[in-house]
Amino acid sequence: MKLPAFFEEDRIAVDAHLDRLMPAETLQPPSIHQAMRYSVFAGGKRIRPILCLETARIFDADVLPAFYPGCAIEFIHTYSLIHDDLPALDNDDLRRGKPTCHKKFGEATAILAGDALLTLAFETIAASPAPADRRVAIITEISTAAGTIHGMVGGQVADLEAEGRRVGPETLEYIHRSKTAALIRASLASGALSAGAPPDDVARLRRFGETIGWAFQVTDDILDVEESSAALGKTAGKDIAQQKATYPAVFGLPRSHEIANELANKAIAELQPYGERAECLRAIAEFLVLRRT
Ligand code: IPE
Ligand code: IPE
Ligand code: MG
Ligand code: MG
Ligand code: MG
Repeated sequence: MKLPAFFEEDRIAVDAHLDRLMPAETLQPPSIHQAMRYSVFAGGKRIRPILCLETARIFDADVLPAFYPGCAIEFIHTYSLIHDDLPALDNDDLRRGKPTCHKKFGEATAILAGDALLTLAFETIAASPAPADRRVAIITEISTAAGTIHGMVGGQVADLEAEGRRVGPETLEYIHRSKTAALIRASLASGALSAGAPPDDVARLRRFGETIGWAFQVTDDILDVEESSAALGKTAGKDIAQQKATYPAVFGLPRSHEIANELANKAIAELQPYGERAECLRAIAEFLVLRRT
């Protein structure tokens, strides 16, 4: 699908900030910095930082402060992928079109690269030019989203515990909203917080993020069934092989497509008060459910 130009412009700007915020490969000890950079620059879509930037733009504020939480979330997301791929979790060999971090650097370095990216995320937020009260609010938002209560780690635990079990729609919803929607929710909220948005707007955009993030993981499940490893840059067909709790497994593919679209429409309805100013967020929301990669 043809993406609007802002996607590419934002992606290039995000990559430049990620590069600037990460330790050089030559710094001691080089192996960990090589592994961190290998996984961050393996070629992600950068959806989370792009959402963060485009949210800040709604409020006409200086967009520079939004790069910090945007990049912090990309560091946490990349750490979650490195750990998700480990033999003890999903045991994957391919990520972002390349061998996974543990395949390339060994398990010990991959575990530590994940730990280091999580830590770097909070160093990054602390370094943001946003006023201190906004930085604290952003830390609260992002640490919660990465954690165990309605957060990424909690969702990953439930995902692993559901393997090989029959789960109902409520458990499935919990897994998807926690393991994936939480960080996307934080991308929206922290973009709004960086721009000094009023609390009602932060809450509205947080709701948009949570709902579009949920749709995003439903789509990830659909693509695991419908697409090839080459298109995805990760091993296709793994969810069925590992008996994962997914939307296609519980609802079937046709209904999963409908659910993804219903969630996207529900999310987009939250943007109504922003009119034209939310055009980019609407375009991202549509992309997130229509994408094939
Ligand atoms: C993959 O996320 C993992 C999920 C949470 C579904 P992305 O599809 O955003 O992965 P990258 O960052 O583009 O590699
Ligand atoms: C991943 O869900 C969610 C996180 C990494 C937190 P999946 O296990 O479905 O992600 P992929 O398909 O490996 O990218
Ligand atoms: Mg997983
Ligand atoms: Mg996985
Ligand atoms: Mg998946």
